[in-house]
Amino acid sequence: MSQETQKTWGGRFSEAPSRIAQEFNASWTFDQRLALVDIEGSLAHAAMLARQGIIAAEDEARLRQGLLSVRQEILEGTFQWREELEDVHMNVEARLTELVGPVGGKLHTARSRNDQVATDLRLWVRGELTGLLDDLKALRRVLVQEAGKYIEPPLILPGYTHLQRAMPVLLSHWFLAYYEMLTRDAGRLQDALNRLNESPLGAAALAGTGFPIDRHFTASALGFVRPMRNSLDAVGSRDFVLEVLSALAIGQITLSRLAEEIILYTTFEFGFAVLPDAFSTGSSIMPQKKNADHAELIRGKAGRVLGSFVTLATLTKGLPLAYNKDLQEDKEPLFDAMDTYRASVKLLAAMLPGLKWNAEVMARAAESGFSLATELADYLAERGVPFREAHHVVGRIVRHCVEQHKELRDLSLAELQGFHPLFDEDALPLTRLETAIHRRRSYGGTAPEAVREALKAAQLEVET
Ligand code: ARG
Repeated sequence: MSQETQKTWGGRFSEAPSRIAQEFNASWTFDQRLALVDIEGSLAHAAMLARQGIIAAEDEARLRQGLLSVRQEILEGTFQWREELEDVHMNVEARLTELVGPVGGKLHTARSRNDQVATDLRLWVRGELTGLLDDLKALRRVLVQEAGKYIEPPLILPGYTHLQRAMPVLLSHWFLAYYEMLTRDAGRLQDALNRLNESPLGAAALAGTGFPIDRHFTASALGFVRPMRNSLDAVGSRDFVLEVLSALAIGQITLSRLAEEIILYTTFEFGFAVLPDAFSTGSSIMPQKKNADHAELIRGKAGRVLGSFVTLATLTKGLPLAYNKDLQEDKEPLFDAMDTYRASVKLLAAMLPGLKWNAEVMARAAESGFSLATELADYLAERGVPFREAHHVVGRIVRHCVEQHKELRDLSLAELQGFHPLFDEDALPLTRLETAIHRRRSYGGTAPEAVREALKAAQLEVET
């Protein structure tokens, strides 16, 4: 039996673990991402132990020096990870003890890896989320800037329902729709962040400790709002991870929808936009191809992030309190989802400004396909015809146009009057794109003046 195993597990074990068992149990290959926050937690814990008179001030000074040296090795990439030491916590502690001698063993007084790992994970998520929210803000800013580019002169494209041309909308309005969705996605992450910012440290294995620790001190030293109130909950709960993963999954779904529209709009069939060369790929066999690989990957990765959420939900649903080793499995899905979402956010922020929008193709699409039919129905309704009846009349007009291979704007006043006597001269401009757009002035609508208002509000949000 190795000395190391004996030191870690004490006298209870007479046989060292088998190699295959050891490998299976190990998490250092992935939880080493927690090394810096692990040390941060240990520094706060050691300071508290000394402050409370649980260890001597000189011991704390040596622990601190040792921990800072370990941190340096990790930052420089010279730290030697050892598989037989299972995870990040034991690797760090073993190296500390190598550096400072037996006093290293005092660090784990009044602490367990159970509260240690829960603390580390909250610290890590907090740091990552803070960076992610910055990246998300940068993407939201890009959406606002893009919206601002196309409002004067207004770029118009068809708005769709059921992927059938429905009514014309401003391209800026479309950008701002995604801005709103992303703003809520950011809000969900921020809410999760606010809720998870509590300290599990000092819950020890599951029941607290007999040492006179000060959990309020470590909580505030680590920037947590307060210590968690219940020790079983503190070490046994991962709903904060679940909450973050659900917010990431929803966020990735938003990005996926945006990606899907980019894919559609840049096809030959739509031709609304052209992908920047730097964000498209060719085909090895078909020279004409310019593929939206990156957008497709963002769409595909939604499955992956949602998968991480499902993994964690399944992992925790049947767990009895408090800590169970199953919880070691929480990290990889969390890391992966965080990395995936963040990379997707950055990709879109870099790609969107490079899209070249084809105003003419979009406008042509927006005014054909009878997307202005509702204008004529509204016209009759404004003159007292019940809307249902007006709808029916215009339906007949559309059928007539289809049969005659005409667009609405090709109809003369006499033709319109043939369908309803209330049609007059002023009905004709309604079949023009600009007129239709300018009429949608209701709050949140697509008229340039309404969109300009929404843009102003969004600008305020991202500039502050
Ligand atoms: N590597 C473990 C994890 O990630 C640390 C906690 C281990 N605690 C225990 N009682 N075995 O969950």
